[in-house]
Amino acid sequence: MGVWEAGSVGKKMTMKLQFMLNGEPVTLDDVPPEMLLVDLLRDVLALTGTKRGCDTGTCGACSVLLDGKLTKSCRTPAAKIAGRDVVTIEGLHAPDGGLSDLQRAFLAHGAVQCGFCTPGMVLAGEALLRKNPHPTRAEIRRGIAGNLCRCTGYQQIVDAIEATAQARAREE
Ligand code: FES
Ligand code: FES
Repeated sequence: MGVWEAGSVGKKMTMKLQFMLNGEPVTLDDVPPEMLLVDLLRDVLALTGTKRGCDTGTCGACSVLLDGKLTKSCRTPAAKIAGRDVVTIEGLHAPDGGLSDLQRAFLAHGAVQCGFCTPGMVLAGEALLRKNPHPTRAEIRRGIAGNLCRCTGYQQIVDAIEATAQARAREE
């Protein structure tokens, strides 16, 4: 939970922040109230898989899952995650700790080129498949509409998400 702690006179106000991160409880003291989630993840917690791109909520490179919902961490105050569940790309993996099926599909389908958009794209795909396990290609395109890729033309990304949906359906 977020707890505000007024410091002594002249000292900057900071907050204690407790939340779940990639399945583990995290407690941080002295978080500046104005800090953004992208900075908390990258600069405080050294989780640099979350990328900082446009800083305006446009590109989706900074996407994380917040309570399972795709969320742009460059537009999310760190204070807003108190008591909530955050998943970053580092928290998305197979049970054996290797790449997840969706991450492997991105590689297999050539959906990773420069890689800058990839963490956000993978999380967008994962958020979509958790909500809609059998999406059409149009639904996949809508699911990643908030994430920009300058390299692939999107086709390979849609292919990778579609292939993952089909593989998961075969395992049901
Ligand atoms: Fe957050 Fe671009 S860096 S949307
Ligand atoms: Fe380069 Fe998407 S792979 S921006």
